[in-house]
Amino acid sequence: MKRSSVKELLHSDKFLQEVHVKGWVRTFRSNRFIALNDGSTINNIQCVVDFENTEEELLKRITTSAAVSITGTLTESQGKGQSVEITVTKLEILGDSNPDEYPIQPKKHSLEFLRENAHLRIRTNTFSAVMRVRSALSFGVHKYFQENGFNYVNTPIITGSDAEGAGEMFHVSNFDTNKAPLNEAGEIDYTQDFFGKETNLTVSGQLEAETYAMALGKVYTFGPTFRAENSNTTRHLAEFWMIEPEVAFNDLDANMDLSEDFIKSVLGYVLENCKDDLAFLDNRLTQEEKTKPQAQRSEMGLLEKLNFVANNNFKRVSYTEAFDILRNSKPNKKKKFQFPITEWGVDLQSEHERYLVEKHFKCPVILFDYPAKIKAFYMRLNDDGKTVRAMDVLFPGIGEMVGGSQREERLDVLKAKMADLNIDEEELWWYLDTRKFGTAVHSGFGLGFERLVLFTTGMSNIRDVIPFPRTPQNAEF
Ligand code: 4AD
Ligand code: MG
Repeated sequence: MKRSSVKELLHSDKFLQEVHVKGWVRTFRSNRFIALNDGSTINNIQCVVDFENTEEELLKRITTSAAVSITGTLTESQGKGQSVEITVTKLEILGDSNPDEYPIQPKKHSLEFLRENAHLRIRTNTFSAVMRVRSALSFGVHKYFQENGFNYVNTPIITGSDAEGAGEMFHVSNFDTNKAPLNEAGEIDYTQDFFGKETNLTVSGQLEAETYAMALGKVYTFGPTFRAENSNTTRHLAEFWMIEPEVAFNDLDANMDLSEDFIKSVLGYVLENCKDDLAFLDNRLTQEEKTKPQAQRSEMGLLEKLNFVANNNFKRVSYTEAFDILRNSKPNKKKKFQFPITEWGVDLQSEHERYLVEKHFKCPVILFDYPAKIKAFYMRLNDDGKTVRAMDVLFPGIGEMVGGSQREERLDVLKAKMADLNIDEEELWWYLDTRKFGTAVHSGFGLGFERLVLFTTGMSNIRDVIPFPRTPQNAEF
């Protein structure tokens, strides 16, 4: 007999039909009611067992997280809060689960405890909802770009370049760490290593994506990205997924338009397609907010916030304007910022970004035209000679969601900048070629996928929105 998903059955009105499902027991009440889940939806289907005619041995094996196969009749439910249930005619235990050993009990566990059981936490409502939303978001990302004429490019994960020039790379080597060969100068001789040169895991696919944009016009990457920065925060992972569109002939304004349209469209997609999961997460967040002191509670619920962002314009502000707002702000005057805003040119910290979006503008903000000194080498220099055509999209509760720029397309200016920053021209000869052969204005950005999932699900720690997080001192699973 054909197996149905729980989701299909919950939406079915073909009562009195024989149906077949497989899934895992969430709870078993009164020796009679199984709440069954198969991952197809946040909702369980109630399966009613005829306990008087079922062997006691079998009833005992219906425990939380046991895998079961159920055949029965779909009936209109008598209980509150559900429309259908299954009157069980045949029940088979496919895989037992010993309740004395199974760590995830049907009660509230802390997120920290669940993180230590990342292989099982996906069996909880919260994590299954988060991961279904994550999956839908990633489909929404591809859908947006594919429907708008972008080509998906898979840039290399192992690379010889440091795209961001920040030196936060994981080295990739085939050497036995204790016996790496040395050259005459006594340094490790990478010419004898697997690739014949020093290599690392990519921090961004941008530089390669730029070469593709110069032929395919509109491209995007969506892949794993690695940063060996020792940032133990709720917003940083050592391994995360980044989406990087790159568009030939787009200037910074078009780049800002693209980032805003893209984010709104993807949020619109999940609002339309993840209603049950988002309703659950909305409720979860409301409960969590109640445990906080009044002053720290967020003013909007999750769904309200997502709809607000999807339907309102982002505020666009130059670094210089933002700097003035911050310098004159109450927390700055009262010395409440850990990093005081004093001189033009300082890098903005997360506390400043959050002040701007959460307290001052109360909506997503795109900051642009940053001081050249605090941004990467490839950003286009403005005529003032001190700012570059950079943009960061800042989100409430998150801080930086997107970092991007119009690229420096002028070969001489780019070379001068690289010389300034001691970036070896020979390393990036192929990148410079794009500026020699048909160079053109072009722009792009990178969006940290987990930060988008964090915002969309209302979770508060980035470790809870990726299946198996990699952070300093942690690579379990
Ligand atoms: O601002 P970033 O460093 O920009 C780039 O890498 C550019 N090459 C992008 C481009 O123009 N194509 O990183 C982009 C985004 C950040 O805004 C943030 O959302 C995310 O990537 N990100 C991280 N997310 C999780 N953990 C980390 N350690 C992250 N570092 C950056
Ligand atoms: Mg950035």
